[in-house]
Amino acid sequence: MTRRAQISPSILSADFARLADELARIDGAADWAHVDVMDNHFVPNLTLGLPVVEAILASTTIPVDCHLMIQNPDRWAPAYAEAGAGSVTFHAEAAAAPIRLARTLRAAGARAGLALKPATGVEPYLDLLPEIDMLLIMTVEPGFGGQSFLDVVLPKIVAARAAIGDRDVWLQVDGGVSAETIERCAEAGADVFVAGSAVYGTDDPAAAIEALRALATAATPAAPATPSTSG
Ligand code: DX5
Ligand code: ZN
Repeated sequence: MTRRAQISPSILSADFARLADELARIDGAADWAHVDVMDNHFVPNLTLGLPVVEAILASTTIPVDCHLMIQNPDRWAPAYAEAGAGSVTFHAEAAAAPIRLARTLRAAGARAGLALKPATGVEPYLDLLPEIDMLLIMTVEPGFGGQSFLDVVLPKIVAARAAIGDRDVWLQVDGGVSAETIERCAEAGADVFVAGSAVYGTDDPAAAIEALRALATAATPAAPATPSTSG
């Protein structure tokens, strides 16, 4: 299966007082707009919730990629899908019934994503791959933008890519993804790249997105050759 590198800029590093303008700056370049919902319980930071996500959805045509860093996603995540987020990702560490929740998100019309913190192993969740559309492997401890990329997570990305095999499950990385680190992520098998400070910390976010995508695409391993059916 051919994998195209997608870039999902995190608006956590944007100006929260001017979100519509900040979204317009990445329109046409970004594949998704990554929105970090934090509840000050699952992570030690508080950002925004459903009303702001609804305002974002009303102000842009960029598909919205909601990353829920919240407790009890079983209770709160479906509303983000019902509001129109194209992708809703919840944390494995927080979900009580991840299969039921993923099915609920899909039934509401969203792509279902499952996120793992850096110290959470992927093996216990491999049986869930048929139930999800994206696996998010955190490459920093969730909670804040601008942290340093954790190289120690790379083998987990490699293992996840091998387990995904031919399935149509995207593999997202989030945290410390920049021009310095994105090639390592792509080589390991990631295909959706969240970048906050590496996009909004520059003068030209759209150009930063294009540069990141070019690096990721160049570093993406070639898809396994399809066995020839002729001769
Ligand atoms: C952190 C968030 C990330 C954050 C990434 O918990 O999930 O999406 O915005 O920011 P950078 O790219 O600056 O590490
Ligand atoms: Zn995020």
